[in-house]
Amino acid sequence: MIMSPVLVTGASGYVGSWLVMKLLRDGYVVRATVRDPTNVKKTKPLLDLPRADELLTIWKADLGQDGSFDEAVAGCTAVFHVATPMDFESKDPENEVIKPTINGVLSILRSCKKARTVKRVVFTSSAGTVDVKEHQQMEYDESSWSDVEFCRRVKMTGWMYFVSKTLAEKAAWDFARENGIDLISIIPTMVVGPFITTTMPPSMVTALSFMTGNKAHYHIIKQAQLIHLDDLCAAHIYLLNRPEANGRYICSSHEATIYDLARMVRERHPWCSIPKKFDGIEEGIEVVHFSSKRLLDLGFEFKHTVEEMFDEAIQSCIEKKLIPLPENGKVVDAGEEEVGAKDIVHGEEERARIAIG
Ligand SMILES: NC(=O)c1ccc[n+]([C@@H]2O[C@H](COP(=O)([O-])OP(=O)(O)OC[C@H]3O[C@@H](n4cnc5c(N)ncnc54)[C@H](OP(=O)(O)O)[C@@H]3O)[C@@H](O)[C@H]2O)c1
Repeated sequence: MIMSPVLVTGASGYVGSWLVMKLLRDGYVVRATVRDPTNVKKTKPLLDLPRADELLTIWKADLGQDGSFDEAVAGCTAVFHVATPMDFESKDPENEVIKPTINGVLSILRSCKKARTVKRVVFTSSAGTVDVKEHQQMEYDESSWSDVEFCRRVKMTGWMYFVSKTLAEKAAWDFARENGIDLISIIPTMVVGPFITTTMPPSMVTALSFMTGNKAHYHIIKQAQLIHLDDLCAAHIYLLNRPEANGRYICSSHEATIYDLARMVRERHPWCSIPKKFDGIEEGIEVVHFSSKRLLDLGFEFKHTVEEMFDEAIQSCIEKKLIPLPENGKVVDAGEEEVGAKDIVHGEEERARIAIG
């Protein structure tokens, strides 16, 4: 087992914070990087985690600044590179999203090379590096790469995210090969589940769009692939500790259509107002499969059901007053709470629209 300290970038985000929590629970000494350690709204959920007092330190680092991770990486035995720029309303996507994502991963790998202590780097990639291409398939595995030229030409919603993640992962592989770095990439599909962040995670806006009536997101989950946040973070730690692991690993446990998901949530949460029909999406639409065979062949097991993903995500949203609340069996409006339903729909809509993997 790889021992401490380990570094987690993007530690204040949806995936990063849960990963930090699991690592602390397993007894790892964790260095968590955030862009602004003085932003209490983002750091408090980390500092409040069990065992944070003894095992967690917060470090300032930015993907846009070369060498920014040197200090935090020095002395670490492993790096989980989770951070990614998600400003999808950017007026300058090349400079604000694509370049920092590519240069950021290269900067971190250079820090690892300098440190000489890092035994493995686990890079959180995305399903967006796999299936964004002109001719859609019904099944994908790790041999598939998204078509960057197609993304740049069509400029579909979130194109800069798909381009940034695809080019960053490819650049990481080249650098790792040339410099003898042990790199693993993990490819999550849409991540759903409970969360410890204070704001609505981008992928949750999409996953729960049929509950919030956020129609712009329906087409994204019409043929969804999903992974529970806890299974994804467990897979990160599992891959760190399997010496024989190498290359890319899709991490996706379930597929469903928007009709399947809406039916399931409606049955389990009858207080929700969920449409029975989604305009422009056929009811008999087929599911698209992302194969996690490589990960499962390595011995990893998914523990969570799709019901748990949604039950726990909904519970977190209710606790944090991020979706309309059930009251006496009726739905009431969350109103203008600190982060209310309106903020979700308008503030993070564009970010979330593409946060599907
Ligand atoms: N959620 C999903 O469904 C999903 C699916 C597939 C892949 N992924 C991948 O999972 C990873 C985490 O995503 P998430 O859902 O957790 O998103 P998130 O909640 O938005 O977290 C993203 C994190 O990246 C950090 N970040 C952004 N720009 C940065 C920069 N210039 N320098 C340093 N840090 C920066 C942010 O840090 P600040 O707190 O400083 O803003 C934030 O903590 C990403 O790599 C994403 O591609 C997610």
